[in-house]
Amino acid sequence: MAEPQSAPVPGESKAEAYARVLKEIRAVVAGEPSATARYATAACILVQNFAPRFFWTGFYLVDPGKTDELVVGPYQGSLGCLRIPFGKGVCGAAAASGETQLVEDVHAFPGHIACDARSQSEIVVPVYDSDGRLAAVLDIDSEHKAAFDAEDRAGLEAICRDLLMV
Ligand code: SME
Repeated sequence: MAEPQSAPVPGESKAEAYARVLKEIRAVVAGEPSATARYATAACILVQNFAPRFFWTGFYLVDPGKTDELVVGPYQGSLGCLRIPFGKGVCGAAAASGETQLVEDVHAFPGHIACDARSQSEIVVPVYDSDGRLAAVLDIDSEHKAAFDAEDRAGLEAICRDLLMV
């Protein structure tokens, strides 16, 4: 079944855009138990609404076979690194700490992993499953420094909070 396309609404604030995008992701994935389908849908709808500010948008999943390593999941953007150990780079810091990482200048972040040299700033938000276990992190990069703020953090954390609730 064709889904309606999602696109920015002229004149809306960033908070309004995030509230609308949250509802759209929820509506499309409602009743869908596949985590892959849910992650892919979220990445697509985020990019449709926030590109080109969102230069790379996707998920790194906790590898079930190696619980201290992330493996790339559904994403939109240039070629991403395949694996990131917990504690390494911005994604690894989010996975190890369980906390959102908002990085205004990735070059100033110790151990930053440069999958694409164009990335300048980044936000990484943990995704938990319904048992409260870390399942993945949502990683969004920008080609510009300080592209993300507290509104992005609040909007993306809200999206990640119910991403795995079916
Ligand atoms: N820059 C990230 C690596 C992943 S990519 O940007 C796609 C990091 O340091 O975690």
